[in-house]
Amino acid sequence: MAEVTKSYNEQAQAYDDFIRKLVPDYEVFHELLPKYLGQVTTAFDVGCGTGNTSLRLLESNPNLKLTCLDTSPQMLEVTKCKLGDRHIFTESSIENYEPAGDFEAVVSVMVMHNIQDKSDRLKTYKKIADYLTDGGTYLTVDIFRGETEQLQDIYMAQWRDFMLNNLPESEVDGKWLKLHKEKDKPLKLSEQIRLLKEAGFSTVDVVHKRLQFAMLFAQK
Ligand SMILES: C[S@@+](CC[C@H](N)C(=O)[O-])C[C@H]1O[C@@H](n2cnc3c(N)ncnc32)[C@H](O)[C@@H]1O
Repeated sequence: MAEVTKSYNEQAQAYDDFIRKLVPDYEVFHELLPKYLGQVTTAFDVGCGTGNTSLRLLESNPNLKLTCLDTSPQMLEVTKCKLGDRHIFTESSIENYEPAGDFEAVVSVMVMHNIQDKSDRLKTYKKIADYLTDGGTYLTVDIFRGETEQLQDIYMAQWRDFMLNNLPESEVDGKWLKLHKEKDKPLKLSEQIRLLKEAGFSTVDVVHKRLQFAMLFAQK
């Protein structure tokens, strides 16, 4: 975890400049998030990063009270500057966090692939289900592994092409794909759906997908 936090601390200032060049449909995912959440009054942004997700939720729901959590103090600092002091900001991993109350909605965008151990993923989803009020919604966007090695290879090649449209080859191969292969632990989409159901979500659906990036809607 310390290594993941160090890496995000280093990326914090430049994050908003590069994230759209790395994640296909980053903007589309953010346009869709508020549509699936509706007019909730409390939401929890897990791994808020530089606050892009929270900001987008507030645009369509200005009265929303947010709790923003991140392990990286530098990322959290950028979120605080964007959101102001009406919200709650907590520096912690989701694994170690115990909230004071319930939430009507939880969101996590490009976060859960950082959890290295599959059993910790299930524990985390159970925790999120516990935080939610009955009928509450968890929306998660993440990177996944292809269901077969063949699909995985096709996705990886297409993702590389996407990044090469935006960034030099040396950066794509020498930095981003290297980091992904060394540090990220994406699940297969089918595994993630199974874990969410096992964690206690009654409805789980994939509401948007581009290559190996997908947004899942999970209702308690
Ligand atoms: C790729 S960024 C995504 C940021 C933001 N959600 C977005 O959509 O732009 C991942 C963020 O999750 C945070 N993070 C990684 N692992 C975490 C964990 N276990 N608990 C809480 N935050 C975590 C990182 O510090 C980083 O800010």
